[in-house]
Amino acid sequence: MANLWSGRFEKSMDKLMEEFNASIDLDKRYYNVDIDGSIAHVTMLGEQGVVSHDEAQIIREGLEKIRLMIEHDEVEFSSRLEDIHMTIETLLINEVGDVGKKLHTGRSRNDQVALDTRLFMIRELHDLMLEIKTLMRVILNKAEAYKSDIMIGFTHMQHAQPITVGFHMMAYFQMFKRDLERIEDCIKRLDYNPLGSGALAGTTININRHRTTELLGFSHITENAMDAVSDKDFVIEFISDASICMMHLSRFSEEFIIWNSQEFSYIDIDDAYCTGSSIMPQKKNPDIAELIRGKTGRVYGDLIAMLTIMKGTPLAYNKDFQEDKSALFDALDTLKTCIVIFAKMLENTKFQTEEINQHINKGFLAATDIAEHMVKLGIPFRQAHEMVGSMVKYCEKNRIRLEDLNEADYGKISSSLTREMIPDLSALACVERRISYGGTSIQDVERQIKVGREYLR
Ligand code: ARG
Repeated sequence: MANLWSGRFEKSMDKLMEEFNASIDLDKRYYNVDIDGSIAHVTMLGEQGVVSHDEAQIIREGLEKIRLMIEHDEVEFSSRLEDIHMTIETLLINEVGDVGKKLHTGRSRNDQVALDTRLFMIRELHDLMLEIKTLMRVILNKAEAYKSDIMIGFTHMQHAQPITVGFHMMAYFQMFKRDLERIEDCIKRLDYNPLGSGALAGTTININRHRTTELLGFSHITENAMDAVSDKDFVIEFISDASICMMHLSRFSEEFIIWNSQEFSYIDIDDAYCTGSSIMPQKKNPDIAELIRGKTGRVYGDLIAMLTIMKGTPLAYNKDFQEDKSALFDALDTLKTCIVIFAKMLENTKFQTEEINQHINKGFLAATDIAEHMVKLGIPFRQAHEMVGSMVKYCEKNRIRLEDLNEADYGKISSSLTREMIPDLSALACVERRISYGGTSIQDVERQIKVGREYLR
């Protein structure tokens, strides 16, 4: 069978060249949206009198038949037909005969691929949002379950202040909420119909782009045909959003890996989400978390690939653009899988609150609380900070905890230090004092969880 563009050519393509040129292996994923686009296009052509109503009907039926054939695995895709657009058009002509040759009136593969990418992404990103919401729900449930269990808050990987596991979980909730909103925002810019832009400059055919916009359910229409077939910024935007979300997953994974180590033992990941070692019988490795951390690099690679593919391409369409598919599909599939798997792993992880408690006595976690308590007694913060600094130095030298200091020690640290300057130093007391909006107190974490639940509802 000759190519759809064979008219101008005397020879058929070299086999290697044909495979190199084809995108069908990847863009066959667009078959549904490609058919939806063609059905809207031919319906509009029929209404405009460009083809007859009967012709439009025959083409529509042919396209629906091809959809079923593809769904039932009855179509053998081949690089011979280059891409999904030419494959479906050729199948249509085989199916309905010469009338099928009227489908490609007033459009080009350039606006077709722009349309398919947008429609495909809108559908996929809605699914992705559901998965992010599921993860956010798992986080909320963990936060609820551990809202009063003490955790050590770190800065610079050093013991900083006591917090709760629930508070720590809610920090991630906020990050994934922003990821969700970024994707929602990306969909806003995808929601423009490029169909009818033609190869680059519009068409002389009497088409009605507003009608296909309506038929395809787009909220907006693209304003400039050349822009519509030339830019892939929406792909870059999505992969940027995906990269940020992967970065969050990677940080969470890294914490899982640290918490799962023997040195920490803060968590117990369910056996179903860990692997063993082929040589060391005692091992229980956090491979899932490590893989997610590793796959983050892949998604960043997809982003750099897309930015580099687009950079330096003149207007309008260039075949370089065809390379967007591997980056887009890879980023999308990787992110989605990682979110689903991470949510399952988190759901099946227990925090070993007893073990965590054993670490609490190290690192002078209550130091800030003493300084802030002094402030409440009228001591300027800088002065309080210095005094508590001296207390810590003294404790370190004498290998005791802040809680162990007695009247005799106070005098040795500073003549102005008195018993009443030291508040309750238990980690729970420290947590409960942090009632500032967004703080780690149980009361505020309960508020955060409530707001989070309302958001997801
Ligand atoms: N397979 C092509 C792509 O994905 C479709 C557009 C081809 N257009 C062209 N003028 N060769 O970009």
